[in-house]
Amino acid sequence: MRLLTPEWHAVLPSTNEWLCARLRRGDPVPPGTVVVARQQTAGRGRRGRVWLAAPGEDLTFSVAVRAPATPQQALAAPMAAALGVAAAVEAMCGLAPRVKWPNDVLLSGRKLGGILGEHAGDMLVVGIGLNVNMDAETAAGIGRPAVSLSMATGRRYALEEVLAGVLDRLGGWLTRWEEGGFPAIRSEWVRRCAGLGEPAAVQDGARRLSGRLVGFGAWGQALLARPDGTVAEAWAGEIEADGGHSRRSSAR
Ligand code: BTN
Repeated sequence: MRLLTPEWHAVLPSTNEWLCARLRRGDPVPPGTVVVARQQTAGRGRRGRVWLAAPGEDLTFSVAVRAPATPQQALAAPMAAALGVAAAVEAMCGLAPRVKWPNDVLLSGRKLGGILGEHAGDMLVVGIGLNVNMDAETAAGIGRPAVSLSMATGRRYALEEVLAGVLDRLGGWLTRWEEGGFPAIRSEWVRRCAGLGEPAAVQDGARRLSGRLVGFGAWGQALLARPDGTVAEAWAGEIEADGGHSRRSSAR
């Protein structure tokens, strides 16, 4: 999909909230709208956590995408976004990020980026946090293993240039998802996926699932093989422990 020229803001509570609020009010938000904040004061992570980023040093932005017809189809949108981020990081920095279900971007097992998809009106807001120039001390203060491009390569990056590189790849991966759903991104997802074949646990709503991560279903749901030979499907939650860098709100 064609992504529009990014709207840069100095400070927003959350780029996801900003776009969701505009959509809920009925303001026009064309598909492909990109909103970026140099600083978020209330960055949201998945599962009620907060997202911490270094002000002016990391990328925090959201993209408006036309919502698909069913919730199942929406599952793979942030997965496609994670692949776009990973591909851009590889092209720009020569690193080889991996992805972790449902939508983390990892480098050597530490979290480089996270993605949060939220529905508002007839759109899906895909929010992306990417650690760009965060230093090791700030990363250590997050409480979960985190890494930035700068920590991995020893150089600083211009946020505008990294964003341009990411949007370049993101548009292509979101188009693949829009046109072909998870099957269209499956092979690349599996190629980059961390933890395949390993024991995994997922809290999917009220259900606690555990088993060996053996693959992904037609919509991108995680398939966990249990010792009794059955296979459980996880549609929500995340593979634990996620090595992430968002914190539960209560830990603030
Ligand atoms: C996660 O928990 O891994 C998802 C983190 C998503 C963070 C991004 S930063 C830009 C956008 N705005 C938010 O408030 N959250 C997302």
